[in-house]
Amino acid sequence: MRHNSKRTSLNPSHFPLKSDSMKVLVACEFSGRVRDAFLKRGHDAWSCDFLETESPGPHIQGDVLEILDEEWDLMIAHPPCKYLAVSGARWFYHPEDRHLPTSQRRPHPKFPNRKQHRDEALQFVRDLLGAPIPHITLENPVSLISSMIRKPDQYIHPWMFGHGEVKKTGFWLKNLPLLEPTNIVSGREKRVWKEPPGPNQWRNRSRTYLGVAEAMADQWGSLRSSLS
Ligand SMILES: C[S@@+](CC[C@H](N)C(=O)[O-])C[C@H]1O[C@@H](n2cnc3c(N)ncnc32)[C@H](O)[C@@H]1O
Repeated sequence: MRHNSKRTSLNPSHFPLKSDSMKVLVACEFSGRVRDAFLKRGHDAWSCDFLETESPGPHIQGDVLEILDEEWDLMIAHPPCKYLAVSGARWFYHPEDRHLPTSQRRPHPKFPNRKQHRDEALQFVRDLLGAPIPHITLENPVSLISSMIRKPDQYIHPWMFGHGEVKKTGFWLKNLPLLEPTNIVSGREKRVWKEPPGPNQWRNRSRTYLGVAEAMADQWGSLRSSLS
């Protein structure tokens, strides 16, 4: 084991590796949903998060930046979006300094480190996108990544994958085809409105939709020969 990460490799014996399996890293995943979808299809899939996994299985608890060079074939990354919201810029500067050029404005008194957090979040995204892995997708809601790094290759919604909900989500792809919708349904609810506030609200909002996880594993997990 390298660094400070903790590995649990409970690869369920009823999901044996297939002969053309891919080594898949699901970065920033505590739910295990994308990992389990790849495992079920016979891939050597691992999730990685600072948090423990909610679903027992191959998981690396630690900093994903420390394991990017472990010869993965494919990475699916879900970096936090907290400091990447387009609307967040209003918390950078002191509200009384609006008349000044940004270089002369003081930090916001309530959020003095907001700009630093944004810059760190963007650097994390750059590090993930620049990882030495042949096939990468990075997922995030509509965010500053579009204006500060590059536009996504596609946007999806859960309603394209069997969930009657709206959540515009971008995919930044490296050497992967667009994810094709699998089950377009008519519902158009915003799940965000249904989540009660509380300590688990962010977790409940951020778990990858099962239909999207299945589509990723079906479509990107079966492309090994044509991609490499
Ligand atoms: C928006 S959540 C993604 C949740 C994911 N969709 C799922 O289904 O589990 C972002 C996650 O990134 C994790 N994270 C942030 N920085 C990380 C890092 N450097 N290494 C590993 N995990 C990280 C956080 O702990 C958080 O759980």
